Amino acid sequence: MTSTAAPIHLHRLVPRLSHVATVRSTFFYPSHYCLSTAMGAQSPWTALQYFHHDMGLQHTASKASKLRYAIYRTSSTAGPSVKYGKRTFAGLKRLSLSKTSCWVMALILATGSDMIYTYLMNRKRESSLESSLALGSVPDIEDASVLAPRTSLKASISSLLQPAFDHGQYGMIIGNHGTGKTTLVRGVAHQHAGILYVDIQPSGITEQEFAETVAKALHFFPRSRVWFNMILSELGIVTHDVEDKRTYLVQVFDEFTRQAMRYRKKTNRPPVLVLDNINLLAAGNPGLLNILQDIAKDAADDGLFITIFVASEGQAARQMLGRSAWSRLGKVIVVEDLSKEEALYYLCNQHEKHPHIAEAVYEFTGGRISFLNTALAHLNSGNTIPGIRQQFLNAGREIFTKAKRMPNNEFKLVCLPLARKMLATGAISYEDFQELAGTPTTANNLLAIKIFTLLRYSNMVVFESKPIQLVAQEVVDDASRGWRSCLSLV
Ligand SMILES: Nc1ncnc2c1ncn2[C@@H]1O[C@H](COP(=O)(O)OP(=O)(O)OP(=O)(O)O)[C@@H](O)[C@H]1O
Ligand SMILES: [Mg+2]
Repeated sequence: MTSTAAPIHLHRLVPRLSHVATVRSTFFYPSHYCLSTAMGAQSPWTALQYFHHDMGLQHTASKASKLRYAIYRTSSTAGPSVKYGKRTFAGLKRLSLSKTSCWVMALILATGSDMIYTYLMNRKRESSLESSLALGSVPDIEDASVLAPRTSLKASISSLLQPAFDHGQYGMIIGNHGTGKTTLVRGVAHQHAGILYVDIQPSGITEQEFAETVAKALHFFPRSRVWFNMILSELGIVTHDVEDKRTYLVQVFDEFTRQAMRYRKKTNRPPVLVLDNINLLAAGNPGLLNILQDIAKDAADDGLFITIFVASEGQAARQMLGRSAWSRLGKVIVVEDLSKEEALYYLCNQHEKHPHIAEAVYEFTGGRISFLNTALAHLNSGNTIPGIRQQFLNAGREIFTKAKRMPNNEFKLVCLPLARKMLATGAISYEDFQELAGTPTTANNLLAIKIFTLLRYSNMVVFESKPIQLVAQEVVDDASRGWRSCLSLV
């Protein structure tokens, strides 16, 4: 082949092909080697277009980074591919074929190799998708041997994650921040097959970002297609290979549903989709949380898969329980702080602390596992109990100080009566809480500042944590003595 004749066709073909590839393909096809021989004689811009075909970038990157990436791809792949393509054509030339025969031969080779490649890649894709539901695919937690046992919670979560064939409800795991929900779920889920665990990140709350997180957990990538099929479908000659114009979220959930059906058929058990940290969606994208709740309801109705929502107490549970789709909510597991006995066992037996020290730590942490770990870290670095207690209370005081700045003195006006009542009874009903707050809006604003928590399942309001309760006691004591401090509410 000479590099003068071929580009005449390729100039027309390649930009179109590259457009299709941009939309569809994550792969570098064998035929690229052949076609890129001719590319060597074309403008760098055409080459750039041709090699710019990465699906992930298509969805996420800015124009500048796409361009940078395309240049990188071009420089890293065009060079060798032109070399190998030229070798192929040189080989063909040695067979003394005419220029046209060379091209026909090259096209046959390219198409054949593409078909084999596509077939192999699609098989790889299928097994990769299947592996996302395999045993152990949920990442394990580090150093499980030093964790507090939490045996009964593990057993409940285990049964939630292994639903029966005809299970028709989605579930929830709720608990305050740092009570150990994620650790429990991942620890249990790692030991079972059929679970897709999706950890929602603060940076993953738009529809597209969320879909990408699910796609990653599912090992989802678009199907490979043979280049001539793409061209034919672009030209409208065949219709079965048309571009998938649905949103990425729909494509990903469609694929998960397909995998779920296969899994259910194979194992007689529906797979489970675990969505952790949905409180981030409630705060940043409540519309998406509604969509997911509807998907969960429909999937449970149709027996496709079971969804388990993992949320911190608060807005997410409030939003979800206020909707009609809530009727399909089945089991709700509440992850609470460790009991005193469990906390002392954890500190004394698993971390070799003296019982007096363990008692003192429990007094200001209240058995919140994340607080126990922080206290242990301070103890191990030589801090004293009074010093550590002070640090915990200072963190609580900061939250009160912030709350004092709430507009219209909303917090200042109602904090004392609320705190007094709650300290006296341990917890108050949501109705009493609303009454003391004055209006439902103020009640919701107060819940958002993380001093009080609504245990939605029992409809009771409590202090968010033990350090907060201790600070509230301080505030009430100061007020009754008529002392003015930085926390004074008058
Ligand atoms: N059983 C346990 N034993 C010891 N440490 C634990 C245990 N469970 C959780 N932890 C530790 O406590 C901290 C909080 O745990 P985790 O992230 O699981 O809580 P969470 O309830 O998911 O928190 P959030 O609501 O903020 O997502 C982590 O550092 C974790 O390693
Ligand atoms: Mg968590």
